[in-house]
Amino acid sequence: MNIHEYQAKELYRKYGIPVPQGIPAMSSEEATAAAKKLIDETGNEVVVVKAQIHAGGRGKAGGLKVVKGVEAASKAAKEIFGKTLVTHQTGPEGKVVQRLLVEQGLAIKSELYLALVIDRESRRIAIMASTEGGMDIEEVAAKTPERIHTITIDPAVCHGKPCIRGLRYPVETLLELLSSGMTVDQILADYEDLEADDIYAALDFAARLSHVKRIDHVVT
Ligand SMILES: Nc1ncnc2c1ncn2[C@@H]1O[C@H](COP(=O)(O)OP(=O)(O)O)[C@@H](O)[C@H]1O
Ligand SMILES: [Mg+2]
Repeated sequence: MNIHEYQAKELYRKYGIPVPQGIPAMSSEEATAAAKKLIDETGNEVVVVKAQIHAGGRGKAGGLKVVKGVEAASKAAKEIFGKTLVTHQTGPEGKVVQRLLVEQGLAIKSELYLALVIDRESRRIAIMASTEGGMDIEEVAAKTPERIHTITIDPAVCHGKPCIRGLRYPVETLLELLSSGMTVDQILADYEDLEADDIYAALDFAARLSHVKRIDHVVT
């Protein structure tokens, strides 16, 4: 199922994930009214008019404009609405813009990339992350693939739970052994293929998990 950016952001909003204020629009007139409302509400003259198509790469294809003021937003909406956008993800025939999202303009500190995708080659769910988010992840993948990190989840190993170096030792088991009072040396004596660094990695994993702000996200 494909969903638009404004629909994804509505879902985020519903679950308390902070997103910029934005209003979807089905015509350039609606977009103009949306820009006026946003500017009135936020006191920020900068708004972003964004094509809503089922594809990324819109910025580079002219499907997105950062503008100042209602008039400029109206002009941008007229330009983008009805346009056919061709991006890395649309195929050569492109996609026609039939909806817009008018969003408050933000001063962006950094842009990250995170995706959960089905990797058809390994037939597994892969989590991909990069610090080089923003406009062109395809280019990052082609030129600097080391900047994209991928974790593949294998449900057949440890029921898909985090485990040590592809070994069949769940991280949780190691943590339980440590918390029961076993020393690192005792654990290493019992499990020959483990190394001290594996145990420290398990502790580091636990430390990182304890940094999260809402524990219910981890427990459920
Ligand atoms: N609300 C916003 N405020 C400021 N800049 C934005 C906003 N939304 C998008 N941008 C800028 O436009 C770029 C492209 O937008 P994005 O939503 O990533 O679309 P796409 O990846 O399809 O081009 C972003 O990388 C960012 O620089
Ligand atoms: Mg982007």
